[in-house]
Amino acid sequence: MNLRPVNEVLDKTKVLLRLDLDLPFSGNLILDNSRLKKSLPTINLLLSKGCKIVVMGHRGRPQGPDENLSLKAVYLELMSLLEPSGENYIESVFLSDISLDKVDQALAINQIVFLENLRFWPGEEANDSTFLEPLTLLCQAYVNDAFAVAHRAHASITFWKKMPAFYGQSFVDEYSHLEKLTNPQRPLTLVLGGAKEDKLKHIEKLSTLCDHILIGGKLPTFLSLSNSKIIPATLTPDGFDIDANSIAKFGEIISSSKTVIWAGAMGFYEDPKYKNGTEKIASIIAISSAYKVIAGGDTSSSVSSLGLKDEFDFICSGGGVLLEFLVNPNLPAWSN
Ligand code: 3PG
Repeated sequence: MNLRPVNEVLDKTKVLLRLDLDLPFSGNLILDNSRLKKSLPTINLLLSKGCKIVVMGHRGRPQGPDENLSLKAVYLELMSLLEPSGENYIESVFLSDISLDKVDQALAINQIVFLENLRFWPGEEANDSTFLEPLTLLCQAYVNDAFAVAHRAHASITFWKKMPAFYGQSFVDEYSHLEKLTNPQRPLTLVLGGAKEDKLKHIEKLSTLCDHILIGGKLPTFLSLSNSKIIPATLTPDGFDIDANSIAKFGEIISSSKTVIWAGAMGFYEDPKYKNGTEKIASIIAISSAYKVIAGGDTSSSVSSLGLKDEFDFICSGGGVLLEFLVNPNLPAWSN
């Protein structure tokens, strides 16, 4: 796959930059800003080229405008990363109105224009080709550094069809790591968790690719397929975490695997009462000698808070994208 790198963007151009902005939150508090940090090299490169940047992305799964899923806090977090201790002042603005006129006016006086959650508008998820089209009149290049949503055929992801397209440094790096998983060392164990039922969408195909699939989080309650490779956890009586028997059984399988891919927390991780399963599984994977890949905001956030991040070979920014890539490496962010 030939992903044209961001360093080929011409100096002093206006760039439409798609980022992974869907950070884990607890109320108004950002739990983990890794997704922003991974894009800093791309943003700094564009700034050093004198480019003006229109930042766009999504947060959560809103059904229309929803102030609880605004990107304003993510904008403020990004600016605090770009302007540590108030240094390197950058003219920037957050825009809730993303009409052509407003973006044009904002770009005239700012180096960074940060757009509100694109999923507040139906055109984004409907992949409406007219939704962001006006921005092609203002910008000369599109850069995608949002690997976590490379599997979504949404307007801001398929925008490479509309204008000269480039890929950010972390995007290219993630792609090259995932490519290696197409020929893994075996046994290959996939550990799935979290609350998003769509992780089970490809379970049948995944069970032909993997030697074991261990299922925790909320997913055992949604599981309909059963075969000898698929092992659902038994849950604690309140249903918010996996139980001790499952931790032991999962641990045995993980310890004898040569490749382990982990996507999704084992319990309701946001509440400290239900972190046990996730923390135990994180520690077991961390000390195993397998090639270890983790994916997804909550998973990497749990591993970070345990100080285990460096024990993993690769951290993929999204669980959904990793699973989609495993079953079909031809994703909307780069396919026709
Ligand atoms: C993620 O958190 O993995 C990405 O933001 C994808 O979100 P989605 O599954 O709602 O498209």
